Amino acid sequence: MKISVIGCGYLGAVHASSLAKLGHDVVGIDIDQAKVDLLSSGQAPFYEPGLPELLTETLAAGSLRFSTDMSAAQGATVHFIAVGTPQQEGSNAADLRYVEAAFDAIVPYLAPGDVVAGKSTVPVGTAQRLAARIEAVGAHLTWNPEFLREGFAVQDTISPDRLVYGVTPNDDHTVSVLDEVYASVLEQDIPRVVTDFATAELVKVAANAFLATKISFINAMAEVAEVAGADVTQLADAIGYDKRIGRRFLNAGLGFGGGCLPKDIRGFMARASELGAGDALNFLGEVDAINLRRRERMVDLCREVLGGTIKGARIAVLGLAFKPDSDDVRDSPALDVAARLAELGAQVRATDPQAIETSRRIRPNLDYVATVDEAAHDADVILVLTEWREYREIVPNSLDSVVAVRAILDGRNCLDPVQWREAGWTYRALGRP
Ligand code: UDX
Repeated sequence: MKISVIGCGYLGAVHASSLAKLGHDVVGIDIDQAKVDLLSSGQAPFYEPGLPELLTETLAAGSLRFSTDMSAAQGATVHFIAVGTPQQEGSNAADLRYVEAAFDAIVPYLAPGDVVAGKSTVPVGTAQRLAARIEAVGAHLTWNPEFLREGFAVQDTISPDRLVYGVTPNDDHTVSVLDEVYASVLEQDIPRVVTDFATAELVKVAANAFLATKISFINAMAEVAEVAGADVTQLADAIGYDKRIGRRFLNAGLGFGGGCLPKDIRGFMARASELGAGDALNFLGEVDAINLRRRERMVDLCREVLGGTIKGARIAVLGLAFKPDSDDVRDSPALDVAARLAELGAQVRATDPQAIETSRRIRPNLDYVATVDEAAHDADVILVLTEWREYREIVPNSLDSVVAVRAILDGRNCLDPVQWREAGWTYRALGRP
């Protein structure tokens, strides 16, 4: 099937190349010439395991190309809208300007029977509002949310947990077109939910709100554990054995960040208020507050370990990305803590396997170094803020002679306290004695 994907960021680039891999003839369209050039040469504009290989393979096979010209979408049967919906400046609400622009741009190239499939995360009600513009030219609209996780984006696209199609009532044409797009996904017996626009839009934000709540729940337990002298990681293990609760997304630590969870819960609250149901989501304000308090607590813990003064201390920061296997630092708890410590007068030396360049764009004044040894050189304390595998696997004695003081703060509960303490280090973590 001929498919266009409009917007080639984290979502669109992965979606376009995955659909090409699934056997379709795909064009990815983006207004950013530099991004299109990079993608056309088989390089990903961001770090995503498996994506460069997928790009190279599908470009070479001729099933994928990229363009800045919207007319390249003409002749495609399905047009996926995968542009960003960031948080509005000075408000909790989502900024829909890129979605609006993508719809404006695609309409002139639509033919009757074409399907426009929204993938972007939008406030509930958006699809209904946009549908008339699509239907006026005889095309069909669907909302088909995406649940991919950075770091696992290719796998999540080719083998998702479920597919959700939001369609107008009785729009069998759109359902059968989407079934053809996802034929090889559906062959894996992956569940498919066909529903209305509003439900499809809500599924996405509800899923992210649930995940954010689960993380903040365990981080709230960490706050209590800290004053009660309990261990939140053992607590998480113990409650996680209950199948109704489950252990996944119960890792206490610095909390959630990234391009989705924080802005999606805020946008969800803003939209619910507009609809008169703000009270129903008041708890998400608390989820957000718990999450942001963890960063403050990390700074306090650091001050405590440094004997009361941050100013002038030499602090090694390991990890800047919002999570491992990503170079994304949007709303990253790690980068935020590093910046706060620098603002308090510490000499911060920060490193990350992938996120130094992306961090530099947001925080140009931090001191970035390439390796753990450089960051830890003469340090008074080491902070592990993103649980990259290479940091989890550090052997304490390898840093004994590098640091000035043997002290490590584990912001992600990803190190073994016994191992570090036995090696003579001060080990502290969030939510643990
Ligand atoms: C998320 C959703 O998982 C995905 O379905 C949606 O499509 C986009 O948003 P992503 O932003 O890639 O994906 O990251 P995710 O793996 O969900 O992690 C989000 C944040 O939560 C990270 O900062 C991570 O470090 C943090 N987290 C996750 C925890 O603090 N504890 C956990 O137990 C799990």
